[in-house]
Amino acid sequence: MTKFMLLGLFDNVTTTATVVGEVRDLGIKDSEMEIMSNIPYASKIFGRKTPRQWFLPFALGGMAVGVLIAFFMSYITPRLYPIEVGGQGLTPVPPSAIMYFEFMALFTMLGAFVGFLLQNRFPILVRQMYDERITEGYIGVQVLAPSEAVMEQVVKVFENHHAAVVKREDAAGFPDQGMRHLLFWGGLGAAGLVAVLVPLLLTYDVVRLPWINTMKDTVVVKAQEGPRRAAPPDAVPIQGPVLIAGQPATERLPDTPESRERGAALFSINCAMCHGPAGNGEGVVGLKHFPETPPLDGERAAALSDDAIFLVITNGKNRMPSLAENLSPGDTWDIVNYVRSLGGAPAEAGQ
Ligand code: HEC
Repeated sequence: MTKFMLLGLFDNVTTTATVVGEVRDLGIKDSEMEIMSNIPYASKIFGRKTPRQWFLPFALGGMAVGVLIAFFMSYITPRLYPIEVGGQGLTPVPPSAIMYFEFMALFTMLGAFVGFLLQNRFPILVRQMYDERITEGYIGVQVLAPSEAVMEQVVKVFENHHAAVVKREDAAGFPDQGMRHLLFWGGLGAAGLVAVLVPLLLTYDVVRLPWINTMKDTVVVKAQEGPRRAAPPDAVPIQGPVLIAGQPATERLPDTPESRERGAALFSINCAMCHGPAGNGEGVVGLKHFPETPPLDGERAAALSDDAIFLVITNGKNRMPSLAENLSPGDTWDIVNYVRSLGGAPAEAGQ
C-alpha cells in the first residue's frame, strides 16, 4: 500500500494545535507527525510529548569522560611512570585540580556540542518535505499517512482549517534517515576514537615501535646517583675555598680503592719527582736539589694526621712548594688517601 507524505501550512499556533489534535484523532501517531516552524515552539503547545533530549545527557556524559581522563592523567599516569623526587607527593593537588577543571570543561563543551547537533537532527542526509514559507512565519504540519484513504481524511482536516498550502507526495521519496544518521555519527565517533587511541597506545608503550620509543634508550639517572655526566668542555669550573681558618674546607673523601688509584696517578705527576716513585724518597729532582725531602712510606709520614698532610700539600712547607694551584681539594684528598696507603698507617676516617 502506498504511503503518502503530506504538508499543510498554517498561519497561527491555535489553528495548528487544533489540526494536530484532529489528525491524531484519525489514528496518526505523534512519531508520524512533524511540526516545522521558524520559532522554537514547545511541543506541549501542540499537545505533543517533548521529543527525546540529547543536549543534557551528552553534556553530562562529556563531563564524566573529562573527569575520567583527568583521573587517568593525574593519578594513573604518574604511577605508570614514577619519577622519584625525594619525598615530594607524587600527585600534588593544585596541578591535579587544574587538570580536572580543564578536562571537565573541554569535554562538557564537546558533549554539549554533539548533543546540540543530535537534538537538531544534524546533518540532514535525505530529501525532506519542506516549503520556503515556513521560513517566513508559517507553521508546517507534516504527516505520514499510511494509506490513500487516511491521506484524503488528513487533507480534509487541512482544508477545513484553511491551510495556506497542502502538498502531497509519495512517501517513498522521503526515506527515514535514522540508519544514515547512525552511520554518520557512528563513523565520526569511530574515527575520533582511533585518532585519540593510536597516539595513546604509542605514548603508553602498549604498542612499541622502535623508531618512535627512543626514551627507553636514554640512561636513567636518579637524583643524587651516579653516573654523573661529565661537564661540557667549555664549562667554567667552580671551585670553593681550599682552606677555611687554616683548616681543610671540605670533608675528606672516603678512602676507597678508586680514590687511591686517582691519588696514585696525581702523585706520580705532582709529587714523585721529589718524593720518589711510591714515596720512597728517591725522586730525581729531590735527590739533586732537595736533599731534605723525606720519604713518605716511613714512620714520619705515618705520624701525620690526614689534615696535616692536606695542609702541607696545600700550603707547602719550607722548601716544599704549595700545590694548591695545581690540585683541587678533591684531588688533594685523593692524594692523602694514597699517601696513607704507603706508610701502612690506617686512615683516620672514611673507611
Ligand atoms: C719540589 C719538591 C717537592 C714536591 C713536588 C713535593 N714535595 Fe713534599 N716535601 C718536599 C720537601 C723538601 C719536604 C720537607 C719540608 C721540611 O720539612 O722542611 C717535603 C715534605 C713533605 C711532607 C712531610 C711534611 C712533614 O711535616 O713531615 C709530606 C707529607 C709531603 N711533602 C707530601 C708531598 C706530596 C703529597 C706532594 C705532591 C702533592 C709533595 N709533597 C710534593 C719537597 C717536595
